[in-house]
Amino acid sequence: MPTVPSSVQSLIGRRVLLIVAGGIAAFKTPDLVRRLRERGASVRVVLTDGGAQFVTPLTLQAVSEDTVYRDLWSLTDESAMGHIQLSRSADVVLVAPATAHILARMAHGLADDLATTVLLATDKPVLVAPAMNVRMFEHPATQANLALLASRGVGIIGPDEGAMACGEYGPGRMAEPLAIADHLAGWFAAREAPKPLASRHALVTSGPTYEPIDPVRYIANRSSGKQGHAVAASLAALGARVTLVSGPVRLPDPPGVDVVAVETAAEMLAACRAALPADIFVAAAAVADWRVEAAGQKLKKDGGGPPTLALSENPDILASLSAPSPDRPALVIGFAAETNDIVAYARAKRLRKGCDWIVANDVSPATGTFGGDRNSVYVIRADGTEEAWENLAKTEVARRLADAISNHFETGKK
Ligand code: C5P
Repeated sequence: MPTVPSSVQSLIGRRVLLIVAGGIAAFKTPDLVRRLRERGASVRVVLTDGGAQFVTPLTLQAVSEDTVYRDLWSLTDESAMGHIQLSRSADVVLVAPATAHILARMAHGLADDLATTVLLATDKPVLVAPAMNVRMFEHPATQANLALLASRGVGIIGPDEGAMACGEYGPGRMAEPLAIADHLAGWFAAREAPKPLASRHALVTSGPTYEPIDPVRYIANRSSGKQGHAVAASLAALGARVTLVSGPVRLPDPPGVDVVAVETAAEMLAACRAALPADIFVAAAAVADWRVEAAGQKLKKDGGGPPTLALSENPDILASLSAPSPDRPALVIGFAAETNDIVAYARAKRLRKGCDWIVANDVSPATGTFGGDRNSVYVIRADGTEEAWENLAKTEVARRLADAISNHFETGKK
């Protein structure tokens, strides 16, 4: 076995039952087995007839160093292991690639081969890594099946967006084996982590706002929502009940989080107020400062020159939820996106907004923070302390922030 750097989260001692269904991405499963095993997992494979069109049982047997199970009827002979026993012989069941067909069969409880029989019989958590053509993925039937499975607690990994074997482009590529292995390791870690925020309600804003100019146009900004969504996910991982009020983003809903989708700043404020009371408020959204007096009809090029847009100031959500009131969350955290003199501006902003902590980041174009996956931040607290968290993945910034929030509630420190 190749050695794995110690920074990689381990799967030591985890037993994974991998169900390989019939999609072209099945050709990546020998690599997936290898990635899982190099993290310390043992992998037992169930291969569907469709899967066997793309990867041979012999290959999977060689890389898993275990029997590859294929036939329901040979198992019901109970010669070596029954299908019920097989379904329970793991800590987790992973379906990769999960085709539209197997997702549909899972959603509707069909059990017409070994894979689906195992999936129906198992008492273990199930994760799926969907892989299919973009239109099949976006079809309402597939989306409804995924939503149904998610509502039953099935974890969904990916899919990625990109060029597909069929020549089309879009979401539907199976997540890469390395990403699936990392996801699984993170999933085990999160499941077993202590839940210090279990009794808390956290309200988080994320993403941009869209301010309409007329029925077809709007003013927006480049916020991706990655940082706010990651904060929501990290707070949920520590056991908080999380309401995420998000402007339009191209991100999946974080697992275990209640998402309220809004467009304008006014809608965001109303949704935040409706979600109160909350113990924690994290304002990570890039709220537009101004809205337009929107025209009721599409503005026309009528030869009279460009229209004048009358702007008025949007409500400041952070300032209004920070203001003293019986509903004020116990801990209010703002973000400050600055391009220069970051800490000085952020300190002044914290006082102006009335929040408890402020997380300041450098968004000058060279940093790639807006839309990117990494961030460098300064956390400034009411007691005047300042901490720098430099060049981290946004998910790591979120994890540290969630830890700091949980410590705050444990120690009562402002
Ligand atoms: O004033 P500025 O936009 O720089 O402040 C940033 C912080 O204030 C962020 O936490 C952002 O989510 C919040 N904010 C808000 N409502 C606004 C403007 C900003 O909640 N209208």
